[in-house]
Amino acid sequence: MPDVAVPRGNTLNVVVKRKWQSGDAVIGFELADRDGKHLPTFQPGAHIDVHLPNGLVRQYSITNGPGDLLSYVIGVKQESASKGGSKILVETVREGDVLAISEPRNNFPLRRDATRTLLIAGGIGITPLLSMARFLDKSSLPYELHYFVRNGDTVAFQSELEVLHGRVDTHVGLGRELVKAKVAELLGPYQFANHVYICGPGSMLEMVQETATALGWPDEAIHFEYFQNTKPVDASSAFDVELARSAMTLHVPAGKTILETMRDNGLTVASSCEQGACGTCLTGVIEGEVDHQDVYLNRSEKASNTCIMTCVSRAKGERLVLDI
Ligand code: FES
Repeated sequence: MPDVAVPRGNTLNVVVKRKWQSGDAVIGFELADRDGKHLPTFQPGAHIDVHLPNGLVRQYSITNGPGDLLSYVIGVKQESASKGGSKILVETVREGDVLAISEPRNNFPLRRDATRTLLIAGGIGITPLLSMARFLDKSSLPYELHYFVRNGDTVAFQSELEVLHGRVDTHVGLGRELVKAKVAELLGPYQFANHVYICGPGSMLEMVQETATALGWPDEAIHFEYFQNTKPVDASSAFDVELARSAMTLHVPAGKTILETMRDNGLTVASSCEQGACGTCLTGVIEGEVDHQDVYLNRSEKASNTCIMTCVSRAKGERLVLDI
């Protein structure tokens, strides 16, 4: 994660109206406009960038239902090994503090034309899926929400889940193989216009994607959101990037990212996670083959070779031409 990222879009100041323990593993934060005004509208699955007192920027999903705009509620994972952003939020930010946040952005959009919507959450991955479930609930659209947790005490947003009218099942304490078997049972063979949304630990996301693919689910029906990219990044290649709209050609040496190289040469480029998970630095590719190292794009998007996450991905050859 970067020490200081360059945010995209406008920021607004919000006050921490409420901070509370939600289950054993999550701290809830309610963020409201300081003057009690409505906050910007958002789509289910959207997140905000939270600018922390030490300059870090972290992304958190909005858990709210539709039209619930007097505050945003986010959930932050509480764990002893937590470092950086989440640790600062959990340990130092208090009720009454003012934080800068971005306007909501949505990298995890929900389709409204599905004949069946299956939401699969692992741990803190419940946060965007709670917002989706609330939207589907209010729209009287059928859905199932399956929430996998290590133990019953770690269930977050329990009271919010209890008032939903769809099928909401919590699966407690299953080992990896049992989770896999349960996921396969829930998915079943692909049926036209079915969509599955997954959010949770990286290993769970990969397992659900592999299981869905094996059952015939096409990439466009499998939607996922990673909180972080835990895969090792290979930055050993060196190549040139031609920036078509900026009329510049830059050399990217081994050990530097395209994003860093652009910044070193005076360009202001938006970023947030700087680990290939959030989508903020997505840039169009005009020519050249991309060595994708992110977890943001799905397989079809990667195969199309039309865009790149400049914070981690690189060129397979000697040159890339980017639409920037
Ligand atoms: S900054 Fe998040 S994917 Fe590049």
